[in-house]
Formats: sequence, structure tokens, C-alpha cells
Amino acid sequence: MNQPGATPSAAFVPQGNGRNMIAVASGKGGVGKTWFAISVTHALAKRGVRTLLFDGDLGLANLDIQLGLMPKRDLGGVIAGRLTLNQAVIPFEEGGFDIIAGRSGSGSLANIPLSRLRALGEDLTLLGAAYDKVIIDLGAGLERTVRQLTHSVNTCLVIATDDPASLTDAYAFIKVTHMEQPDMDIRIVINMAGSIRAGERTYNTLLKACEGFLKISPPLTGIIRNDTNIREAIRNQSPLLTRYPNCEAASDVQAIAAKLVG
Ligand SMILES: Nc1ncnc2c1ncn2[C@@H]1O[C@H](COP(=O)(O)OP(=O)(O)OP(=O)(O)O)[C@@H](O)[C@H]1O
Ligand SMILES: [Mg+2]
Repeated sequence: MNQPGATPSAAFVPQGNGRNMIAVASGKGGVGKTWFAISVTHALAKRGVRTLLFDGDLGLANLDIQLGLMPKRDLGGVIAGRLTLNQAVIPFEEGGFDIIAGRSGSGSLANIPLSRLRALGEDLTLLGAAYDKVIIDLGAGLERTVRQLTHSVNTCLVIATDDPASLTDAYAFIKVTHMEQPDMDIRIVINMAGSIRAGERTYNTLLKACEGFLKISPPLTGIIRNDTNIREAIRNQSPLLTRYPNCEAASDVQAIAAKLVG
């Protein structure tokens, strides 16, 4: 397993109990989970936090595509029994963090048996003990792979936009997760906001629904503004924090990373 050069800060004690694992979820697809998971991992690495990024979108894995990687080792090999999870770790040296890619080259991993999925979550928890943080990019929707991987983590960052379908699906994800795991630390990130004020309004809409129907108040972890540089960076298969480190979305995501370790 690769260990990035950064030394862990004294505040981080490897635990192996999933407390350092954060899932990025949304309910609705296409709201920026994968981009956000990559960028917040990159921002954490820039702060010297040893971070592992795990492609948990078993149906449509694409972390490697956004990063322009062609990994020789991935979860496909792990599920097929050719590799241990440790052997599937690849260093993304440009970003200073490690990745476990999901793409198998042999089709979707979405149909793996629940028992195998549970074992994968347990292995990830053990492997995650060697890192300060593990970020899991989940798939869209609420099917069993998404829910099972959510059982490995203590914190879920739920990404929503002001699109009504995104708000409805984010609420559905929060409701199901809260019912299945009442102790889950659920936090909200608003993405593609027209402005910080607009993002706050979107958050308040979601908060009201959570308070009214579920009697919970998930806190706001941050707002990321709409930024055309993101599309441009993804098109060039280059991380935003490398290509446009000073753009609005980069500073928004770096503020979120600071909150996650603060
Ligand atoms: N803050 C933003 N401003 C502008 N465009 C954004 C922003 N965040 C994400 N995008 C765009 O949204 C698109 C979808 O992003 P991404 O693939 O990360 O979403 P996703 O939630 O992972 O999708 P899926 O559910 O299919 O996995 C990308 O093309 C990206 O350029
Ligand atoms: Mg995605």
C-alpha cells in the first residue's frame, strides 16, 4: 500500500472503526458527487491529511475518468479474488493521495452479493485505519450497494443543488439513512449555487423538510458556487485544484476540507 509522503498530524489517530470515513452521497445523479469527492480529497491532501479516495459508485465507476487515469488494478480484481483491497490501492502522485478505482473493464460491479459487499466494507474500514481520512464516492440512488457502503461510515456528506429533484432525492437519502442508522452524522453540502446567499436559501429549504418531518437538523458543511472552470477541468481530465487552484469553486471546496479537519 502506498503511503503518501505527508506525516499525519497529531490530531489524527488511526482507528479502524470507520470514524475517519466519509461518504459523499446525493440521491439524485449528476449533482457533482464525483467531482466533489476528488476535489475535497485533493484539498485534504494539500493540508497534509493522508487521504484515501474510494470509488464506491459500483454501477458506474468513473473517478479514474475524471482524473485521466488508466488504473491497472481496481475493485474488479478485488471482487474477482485476484487482488486484496490493499493491492488495489494506487497512488495519485500529482494530488498526493491514494485511490481505489472502481472500473473493472468487465462491466458493472453493482450486482455483487450483499455478503461480499459487507466484507468489502469491513476490509475498507481496516485499510482506512492507515489513513487520516477515507472519502467514498457513492453512486446515485438508494439501492443496496449505496446503502450497504453507507453502513461502513459515520459521516455522510449529502450533496444537493437547488433543482427540486435534487432536493427531493437528497431528502429521501437523508430519511432512509436516518431510519437505518439513527446515529449517522449527516451533513449537507450545497453545490452549483448561483451565490452563497442562494446556496443558504437552498440549504434552508432542505433543513426545514428535515426538521419538519424527521426532527433532525443536519448542519451545513459548505456551499460551492457554480463555476464553469469545473467543466473545463473535467474535460481536460485534470483536478480543479491543479488547474484552477484559485477559482471560486476551489476556494469553496478548500473551506469545506478545512471544516472536515477542524
Ligand atoms: N459547482 C459546479 N459548477 C458547475 N458545474 C459543476 C459543479 N459541480 C459539478 N459540476 C458539473 O456537473 C457534472 C456532473 O458532475 P459529477 O460527475 O461529479 O456528478 P455525480 O453526482 O458524480 O454524477 P453521477 O451521479 O452520474 O455519478 C460535471 O460535468 C461537472 O462539470
Ligand atoms: Mg459520480
